[in-house]
Amino acid sequence: MMTKNDVKIKPGKLFINGRWVDSVSGKTFDTLNPATEDVITSVAEGDSTDIDLAVTAAREAFENGPWEKTDARDRSRILLKIAGLIERNKDELALLDTLDNGKPINETTKADIPLVIDCFLYYAGWADKIHGETIPVRGEFFNYTLREPVGVVGQIIPWNFPLLMAAWKIAPALACGNTIVLKPAEQTPLTALRLGEICHEAGLPDGVLNIVPGYGPTAGAALAGHMDVDKIAFTGSSATGRIIMQAASKNLKRISLELGGKSPNIVFADSDIDSAVDGAMTGIFFNQGEVCCAGSRLFIEKSIHGEFVDKLSNKAASMRVGNPEDTGTQMGAQVSKEQFDKILGYIDTGKQEGAKLVTGGERCGEKGYFIRPTIFDAVDNNMKIAKEEIFGPVVSAITFDDVDEVVRQGNLSVYGLAAAIWTMDIKKAHRLARELKAGTVWINAYNAFDAASPFGGFKQSGFGRELGVHALESYTQIKSVWINLGS
Ligand code: NAI
Ligand code: MG
Repeated sequence: MMTKNDVKIKPGKLFINGRWVDSVSGKTFDTLNPATEDVITSVAEGDSTDIDLAVTAAREAFENGPWEKTDARDRSRILLKIAGLIERNKDELALLDTLDNGKPINETTKADIPLVIDCFLYYAGWADKIHGETIPVRGEFFNYTLREPVGVVGQIIPWNFPLLMAAWKIAPALACGNTIVLKPAEQTPLTALRLGEICHEAGLPDGVLNIVPGYGPTAGAALAGHMDVDKIAFTGSSATGRIIMQAASKNLKRISLELGGKSPNIVFADSDIDSAVDGAMTGIFFNQGEVCCAGSRLFIEKSIHGEFVDKLSNKAASMRVGNPEDTGTQMGAQVSKEQFDKILGYIDTGKQEGAKLVTGGERCGEKGYFIRPTIFDAVDNNMKIAKEEIFGPVVSAITFDDVDEVVRQGNLSVYGLAAAIWTMDIKKAHRLARELKAGTVWINAYNAFDAASPFGGFKQSGFGRELGVHALESYTQIKSVWINLGS
């Protein structure tokens, strides 16, 4: 097994124009291992000056560089090579994300990294299949469309799935022929930097992918507001999404936003209860609950409520929370002190609001940002803990006894990222899939993902879709070409 000592924790620099450079200011910041609270390494800290340099490099690579002119099939070949190199380095990448983020090695190995590889494979397949159309217009004209890259795209990603979020952004953008400036989250910059090395090794031309770690209000804001960036793609909080949308308005750059959620996970009495219990566990405790589509509002039909909560709390109480590097660990550490404090704050709020704490509700151990899997029962959909995104291992159980009422309550949220339904009644399942206002609906499943299936939000969970053929929309623009065939 790979250990910490085998991981190459370099280069802690900015990746601009195919080279590893220090930040112009010379500043660096530390990235921590949230399981031990130790510093892993320090990384060059980019700000607006470095973002300028990266955007200039990306612009040059787009306008005069080889990328857009590279035959689509050769772009595909480079994406395939990137996938292959990720596969070859998968143990190292999995461990690096585990160290930087605090998530269990079992999850980085079995979920994050395979999904990352799939994402590059999938978009490698698209690169040479992005076409325009011929259109039967009136008159003596030949009209056709070209589907062209948008240009220089800025991508700002969060810390909850560090490498996977980089892959979701980078792979489709490259497949479409764009050039990129990526800003990873300050909490978890390491795998994105390693991916920069891998892309370079795979033969991606200089300047096509630039990676500038740094903080949101400095590096992130500079990228979002940059006059020479054509599109910004963001995943993170709705609050920051709002700021980015405003910054993007300066030059009316295109935007796609994948934001928060408070997703309803609805369990009917006619479901396979044990599967639904497992689904509720995955829904809220996967990745320590730091998941935008977490099933944080658990609606349970009244007649099975007692049995369901008992089964769920027994499982939650026996979860192995601890060292993320241990293959037996089921839940690791929250990413940072800020997130840890925020979650504990919400747990206090839940108690004050009169919700019933069934299990968990406290930190786990003395060191590291570990929190016990937490279940609140007797929650009302109007309580703060049922309305706001906690982004931690805290589920709010709400009892219901009427189908229409649960749909209404499920939809009673400013968010609309995901929803799940547990039932054996096929009619009810499909009907609710239509009625729930969410970008993803799972039936008798939770957290199913595939590079081919679109992901994104309704309402304040954002707009634009990642993954699937749909992501190609947001990384291309259409040109209509007219040719006079008349005299
Ligand atoms: P955040 O949304 O502020 O951070 C995400 C990314 O945006 C990071 O790369 C950050 O540096 C960047 N950023 C921050 N401020 C920016 C600005 N003014 N301009 C441009 N970029 C900026 O999220 P944060 O503060 O790390 O977490 C706070 C809460 O956000 C979490 O507790 C959770 O509720 C939510 N969140 C949701 C995520 C999702 O996937 N939907 C992911 C991460 C956080
Ligand atoms: Mg870290």
